[in-house]
Amino acid sequence: MKMWSGRFRQALDPQFERWQRSFDFDCRLLRYELAASAAHARALKNAGVLSAEELIGILEGLQQIGEMAATQAVPEEQQAPGQIEDVHHFVEKQLVARIGETGYKLHSGRSRNEQIATDLRLYVRAAIDELRASLSDLCAAFTDRADHAGIAAMPAYTHLQHAEPVLVAHWLLAYVEMFLRDADRLADCRKRLNFCPLGSGAVAGATLPLDRVFMAEGLEFSAPTANSIDATSDRDFILEFVNALSMIALHLSRWAEEMILFSSQEFAFIQLPEAYSTGSSAMPQKKNPDLPELVRGKTGRVLGAATALAITLKGLPLAYNKDLQETQEQLFDATDTILGILPLVTGFMAAVQFNEARMAEAAQSGFMNAWAAATYLVNRGVPSRLAHEQIGKAIKTCLEKNCELQDLSLEELRALNPAFEESFYQSLTPQAVLAIHDVVGGTAPARVRQGVAAARKKIETLREEVHPHAHA
Ligand code: ARG
Repeated sequence: MKMWSGRFRQALDPQFERWQRSFDFDCRLLRYELAASAAHARALKNAGVLSAEELIGILEGLQQIGEMAATQAVPEEQQAPGQIEDVHHFVEKQLVARIGETGYKLHSGRSRNEQIATDLRLYVRAAIDELRASLSDLCAAFTDRADHAGIAAMPAYTHLQHAEPVLVAHWLLAYVEMFLRDADRLADCRKRLNFCPLGSGAVAGATLPLDRVFMAEGLEFSAPTANSIDATSDRDFILEFVNALSMIALHLSRWAEEMILFSSQEFAFIQLPEAYSTGSSAMPQKKNPDLPELVRGKTGRVLGAATALAITLKGLPLAYNKDLQETQEQLFDATDTILGILPLVTGFMAAVQFNEARMAEAAQSGFMNAWAAATYLVNRGVPSRLAHEQIGKAIKTCLEKNCELQDLSLEELRALNPAFEESFYQSLTPQAVLAIHDVVGGTAPARVRQGVAAARKKIETLREEVHPHAHA
């Protein structure tokens, strides 16, 4: 039986019937549909709509459906293709097949509009928990590498031009900051979505005296949603979540771009791990950065999903409209994409090799000590603008002679400013340059060690939040 065929005189056009169904994708919401249905059934019993035996029958039936789905993929659909409209219909049919007409009582006083809103909130909430756990693993992989990199140095770039030397660890910790912010953003999104639509009905509330607080508590929501019109039509949490995924995708794409660049023969800063690279069918020498390239490429689909969602929601009148069904596939695809990427990047980061000698060499060339050189003069009372100009002139000489600042003689330097002394050369080594930035967030080795420790602490906190019972 359909869920709504009573008033219809004509059968549906078969092509339309197939086309409007959502079961192909909303079958993914089954476990949430079952959990929400159980919470609703308990409220029906408390409201006197179900007897104790009927409740037990329904709960057992729901549990059996869950167990069947865990072992077999939607068998009913295979037996009766095209018969099932959506996940709500599926559960009803399965329940009636198991416990008879009592199964039809489950739908008392509720609408699919509140159900889908509830299922989707539960789905996003679980996805957030999974993503935050995955992000904590990713951050741990970056932090481990930062820890092991010790005092290895590399160039930092601005405009992709040599800027200043930094510790490899400092560079790696930059990514940890991005991904920790992402985890935080997801937690924030979770807080805002964690309200229970059950009892909102189709738009104007439940037709039976259902205890909404009881249902919310049963599903571990903070409270019932505040407004039934909003609750049945709100998909802000999906848009917000997928926008948070977009930000993760953007961060991953920046990482991917650096991996691709740094693995090129021109940079040669890293060696691609063979377990995560592929060869060329034509050119025998090739080892290609397919993993970061695909990560970079997949940014497009996640950002595309966020855009598609915003456009689907734009201009929709209140409250439920079938358009909202279109939000599901974008949500699932964006979630799958990011959940699929994170463990791979974690594995890649544990395996990638840093060519520390090459990075150190690059950290000592290209006048990356120029700002430090100007600072040397500033520390000797030279006004900064003049110091900048004089070091600029020294660099002009170097460019003509094809050498670095430390290769100029003291005579040449003193011709620019008598304040130069022998100690100048000492101030130009990468170690000395790194040591200048001895402030919180700077790249002095002691500061970076503090950064590693601070990152570890944040990751630990994140892990405790994601697995609150692990330490109990
Ligand atoms: N498959 C629908 C969706 O995803 C479920 C809600 C159907 N509600 C309705 N009034 N037709 O939005």
